[in-house]
Amino acid sequence: MSTLISTVAAGFDVEKIRQDFPVLKQTIHGNPLVYLDSAATAQKPTAVVDAIRKFHEVDCANIHRGVHELSQRSTAAYEETRAKTKKFLNAKSVTELIFVRGTTEAINLVSSSWGRTNVKEGDEIVISAMEHHSNIVPWQMLCEEKGAKLRVIPMNDRGELILEEYEKLLNPRTRMVAVAHVSNALGTINPIRRMIEMAHRAGALVLIDGAQAAPHLKVDVQALDADFYTLSGHKICGPTGIGILYGKAKLLNAMPPYQGGGDMIRTVTFEKTTYNDLPYKFEAGTPNIAGGIGMGAALDYLNRIGLDQIAAYEHELLVYGTAQLEQIPGLRIIGTAREKAAVLSFVIEGIHPHDIGTVLDRQGIAVRTGHHCAQPVMDWFHIPATTRASLAFYNTSAEIDKLAAGLRKVKEIFS
Ligand code: ALA
Repeated sequence: MSTLISTVAAGFDVEKIRQDFPVLKQTIHGNPLVYLDSAATAQKPTAVVDAIRKFHEVDCANIHRGVHELSQRSTAAYEETRAKTKKFLNAKSVTELIFVRGTTEAINLVSSSWGRTNVKEGDEIVISAMEHHSNIVPWQMLCEEKGAKLRVIPMNDRGELILEEYEKLLNPRTRMVAVAHVSNALGTINPIRRMIEMAHRAGALVLIDGAQAAPHLKVDVQALDADFYTLSGHKICGPTGIGILYGKAKLLNAMPPYQGGGDMIRTVTFEKTTYNDLPYKFEAGTPNIAGGIGMGAALDYLNRIGLDQIAAYEHELLVYGTAQLEQIPGLRIIGTAREKAAVLSFVIEGIHPHDIGTVLDRQGIAVRTGHHCAQPVMDWFHIPATTRASLAFYNTSAEIDKLAAGLRKVKEIFS
């Protein structure tokens, strides 16, 4: 039973929710699994597993290509996820939602398609000091190809972006600002609404990497006025290999296709190909149909619990976990932003994160150790790596107690 006294999230029954996640019921090295690596990938509820199984067992066919019953069913189920995502993100139209492999592919799509046609020598792309590699490297590649400049918004010691410095970076050469909504390595929730306004005033577009935000916060792309917003299915309790790129229709319409192949065409001759309408113009080839259907089930599942409930409960867990970890001598939390999602990245003096991760694993506790695909963040804090416990709504305060006890054991072993 969780020891957390929940006020904000009253009525939130975590023990009941845990029943939906069969994976959590196992023991690892003789101890009950404590899964604290949801920022890497979230666990999948039975509803998602069942939807994928049903597709394969009952409805399996290719989509958009058949008049037969199975193809009709598969197409309907797959397209239903697009409609669910429209609601989830409050997009204006389903045509603004492109199925991709995940956030990485979404960013590569924009940097390749939009970047190829809109960025020229001397232009500038602004990213932030806390970006995941997937929101650095595609822009770096574009800048190298075009002779454009990559500029980086710095952060303070808490791991918060310095908006005064951001303001100074914006100028008439700025074409795109690409920032994470929530940092995977630090947990910082960036003030993206304000940042988008500032970029728009300077005449720049904005891409928001929402991979770590979508599982935890309610997102409204219209209220944010985001030009592009990305999410990964596997971070929101869906399967891997599926995600969404949201883009404003007028921008997507003006962009050339990203990949050529089936489904993205209207007509093909050896002389000339004409392209399909949105969103299919960007969806070449047979997609991850099962993944799309699974993601739809994940969206239904999250909606049933409610993003507001999830955010409130996870915030309580974060506050509780922060207090527990702060009591461990020699432990330093990396990322102490005032607006923060439920990520606890930390270092312990004199003990390498991989050793911490290994000892915790022997106790059944799964955390991620390393640079979290955010090497510049590690460089900024002058550390090689951190140990990261990333929480989800199916975690309990009892599990945080186990983490704290596990870390005390780590200290005993290595002192
Ligand atoms: N980007 C994922 C993480 O933060 C893989 O762990």
